[in-house]
Amino acid sequence: NGVFTYDPGFMSTASTESAITYIDGDAGVLLHRGYPIDQLAEHSDYLETCYLLLNGELPDAESKQQFIAEITQHTMVDAQIAKILDGFQRDAHPMAVMVSLAGALAALYHEGLDIDDAAQRKLAAIRLIAKMPTLAAMTYKHSIGQPYMSPLNSLNYAENFLHMMFGVPADKPNVSPVLAKAMDVIFLLHADHEQNASTSTVRLAGSTGANPYACIASGISALWGPAHGGANEAVLTMLNEIGDESRIEEFIARAKDKDDPFRLMGFGHRVYKNFDPRSRVMRKICDEVLADLGVENDPLFKIARRLEKIALEDEYFIERKLYPNVDFYSGIILKAIGIPTSMFTVIFALGRTPGWISHWNEMLSNPYKIGRPRQLYTGPVQRDYPA
Ligand code: CMC
Repeated sequence: NGVFTYDPGFMSTASTESAITYIDGDAGVLLHRGYPIDQLAEHSDYLETCYLLLNGELPDAESKQQFIAEITQHTMVDAQIAKILDGFQRDAHPMAVMVSLAGALAALYHEGLDIDDAAQRKLAAIRLIAKMPTLAAMTYKHSIGQPYMSPLNSLNYAENFLHMMFGVPADKPNVSPVLAKAMDVIFLLHADHEQNASTSTVRLAGSTGANPYACIASGISALWGPAHGGANEAVLTMLNEIGDESRIEEFIARAKDKDDPFRLMGFGHRVYKNFDPRSRVMRKICDEVLADLGVENDPLFKIARRLEKIALEDEYFIERKLYPNVDFYSGIILKAIGIPTSMFTVIFALGRTPGWISHWNEMLSNPYKIGRPRQLYTGPVQRDYPA
């Protein structure tokens, strides 16, 4: 009827129905297919959670083994990928590289692709979940000039990722089980978060019937920004900038100053106006990893802990319900594991891949329309071109 609502930032517009993830931001609740995130983090693992997101139910033992076998079978990437990577400068931002490599998968898997076929959609999901760690690790190896590591399928998903990141062909695989477990939980905690900016982008791109790998490339692009997935990188940049515990108060004061655009990175969330349930789990792992590595007294981590304490007790943050978000702790854990800061958002992209592709699959499995928002036009009224 030509009447539509104006809702900048989609603060109150539901763009879709979805049966995948439920969030109650006020209560601090996050459920995947009905299961609370803290229970999944404690009792499940990343690949099982991927299966749950994609299929709607937890797998029985046999289906789980079969799913792991399918993922394992697809961990290698086409040899052309290495050639594409070789064209990038060593200091290219890894997220820029990842956008390109996901786009390259679209080039590799396009001919004959039928997105109306459920089996082909499932294969695209398996390929993406399987290949993202390989692409991410190759991106890192390229940046430091080391040989690419082939996936080692005797390792589990997280071990394999750390092996491809930090192993070298001359050495035997040597991955710490504590760090691999932490990595697995980090992936799991990022696996889905309903209609966030990157997932909405994947759905919007997918609503045109675009190639799924290209849709994921658009999701990676949307995730890159500091207000979304780039926040974990921004947290570390901020901690480095603070540099010393004596300067924390100064940065807190800046964050509260409305004339200063600075915000405390890793604090606040569009949906959670209570403690993010993922942050609680992440905080616990953070303690375990720092203790396991014996780096609790590293000055950077001490700044993080002190900053967290001061902000949690400060009226400004309490009134506005600004709590440490998942990126605050994940940044610290990733730094402790030895992942370079510029790779942090890549880790988020890797973890979020099952969420993106599950939403894409859900949309295509049901009747859907092309996503086409409207606008409020504020430009000039019609006028004549100067004669
Ligand atoms: N530091 C200082 N003040 C803040 C912060 C912060 N991190 N976050 C929000 N505020 C203030 C903001 O200035 C405003 O104050 P006032 O009411 O006096 O004008 C109030 O809190 C509400 O903020 P908002 O911008 O209306 O909230 P939003 O829901 O639009 O923004 C956010 C959410 C996450 C973009 C924002 O909190 C932020 O910029 N945080 C820092 C970046 C960050 O950590 N992002 C990761 C988000 S979680 C991961 C993900 O989902 O990708």
